[in-house]
Amino acid sequence: MSTDAGRPFRHGLIGHPLAHSLSPLIHESLLASAGLRGSYALYDIAPEELGRRLPSLMDELDGFNVTIPHKEAILPFLDSLDASAAEFGAANTVFRRRGHNTDRIGFRCEQLPLSGRRVLVVGAGGVSRMLVFEAIRAGARVTVASRTFERSVRLAAELGAMAVPLESLAGAEPFDAILNGSPAGMWPHTAELPVPEALARAAETLYDTIYNPLATRLLLTGRSLPPESMLAGAASQPDCSGQINLPIAPASQSIAPASLPIAPAGLASRRPAPLTRNGLGMLFEQALAAERIWHPGAIFPEADQTRIRRLLPGAVLSRFPVKIVLNGFMGCGKSTIGQSLASRLGLPFVDLDEEMVRTAGKSIPAIFADEGEPWFRSFERRTLEQVLARPGSLVLAVGGGALVEPEAEALVRTRPAQVVFLHVPLAELSRRLADGEGRPMLDGDVQLRTRQLYEHRLPRYVAAADLAVDATAETEAVAAGIARSLGFDSP
Ligand code: S3P
Repeated sequence: MSTDAGRPFRHGLIGHPLAHSLSPLIHESLLASAGLRGSYALYDIAPEELGRRLPSLMDELDGFNVTIPHKEAILPFLDSLDASAAEFGAANTVFRRRGHNTDRIGFRCEQLPLSGRRVLVVGAGGVSRMLVFEAIRAGARVTVASRTFERSVRLAAELGAMAVPLESLAGAEPFDAILNGSPAGMWPHTAELPVPEALARAAETLYDTIYNPLATRLLLTGRSLPPESMLAGAASQPDCSGQINLPIAPASQSIAPASLPIAPAGLASRRPAPLTRNGLGMLFEQALAAERIWHPGAIFPEADQTRIRRLLPGAVLSRFPVKIVLNGFMGCGKSTIGQSLASRLGLPFVDLDEEMVRTAGKSIPAIFADEGEPWFRSFERRTLEQVLARPGSLVLAVGGGALVEPEAEALVRTRPAQVVFLHVPLAELSRRLADGEGRPMLDGDVQLRTRQLYEHRLPRYVAAADLAVDATAETEAVAAGIARSLGFDSP
């Protein structure tokens, strides 16, 4: 089906900047699923160009979307607004010179439990405004925090929320839900958290409007093993010699405060897993709602919707490349789990040790024997730098000592990367490493060296991780769990 004039439908998105948008993929797939001939193009229009470019686009296009920074600026050019666009003072969809706002439909589809909850909205821009509005409407008590305190105050006063300075969150009481409408954590700044880590850990609902990366650091924090379960768990477990290890986190590390009870491993993880969602579902639903406005009679079959949603994670990964770095102690399964994860995600797999063996033309023990550990570490760092500089996404298993020093960890942060710590308790690692074969770092008393190194490194692994997982289960199950945590299931 096409327009009355028999030509294909023409839709598009106006915004600035528009690089890597997923909207053409979503809309053209939806049009095809409804048997409609049409295309969806990107119109990158700088703010000062809007007035000049808009009139002809309004005539030419059979409906279009509007994104940052034009959602509010477009209103004076329109003839009328529907209730949601009028309520928000912003439009993301235009049809026949009438403005609509389908973002809220997308958010409502998430059905987050907000009623009666203490909700923190981060950011004070257009999408945060919608989040505040919808959370209040759902019966939440809402606090707004954004980089510009005055904007938060204005937004909060207008909609009936509270505003607090972003810096004050460090000492704030936990919130039940955190909704991020700010760009903190968006690709390429994958290491950023919009709120202090403790708040992210305490919330029962974490929602991020960001979908690149598929799982932001905020969501990964909610999906991680709690640090105290790893640190305290290690301390309470007998090692292979039957001795109980003492607490291991140096006080300066502040990961396991001295006052923390030494809980059995897994105790903290008994708390129900928080509900964590990215912005991909909202992106899809707002697009579908726009299509329904442009094509009121069209049918978008459910099965096709599911199929299109499933295309999105892969499309995000190819547009916003990220290095998935598996970290952890020798014997934790970085290489086997990494291979399985890479094949699940359709990505190349790189093993840092193997790269070094290939370049040096000799085994790891031979490198250690001929050149010594300091040389090995600088070679390891150079090799890491080269692998990180490769284009595209990949899964990288690093050696157990590769990221231990802060400068090495900082190297990973020069690229969009997500560091996954594969946690295996010391007793299990000691069993796996018992013969010390091929592991120069364990030369001498293998059990003792394993324990010493483990105690030294564990706090560093925990601190460096975006996502920490229990890696004791069978390879495929661990890899599947990591893939899920990284956001590779349909929104
Ligand atoms: C090392 C771990 C090894 C290898 C080298 C040093 C370490 O890699 O890089 O023997 O310092 O822990 P795996 O962790 O993959 O065994």
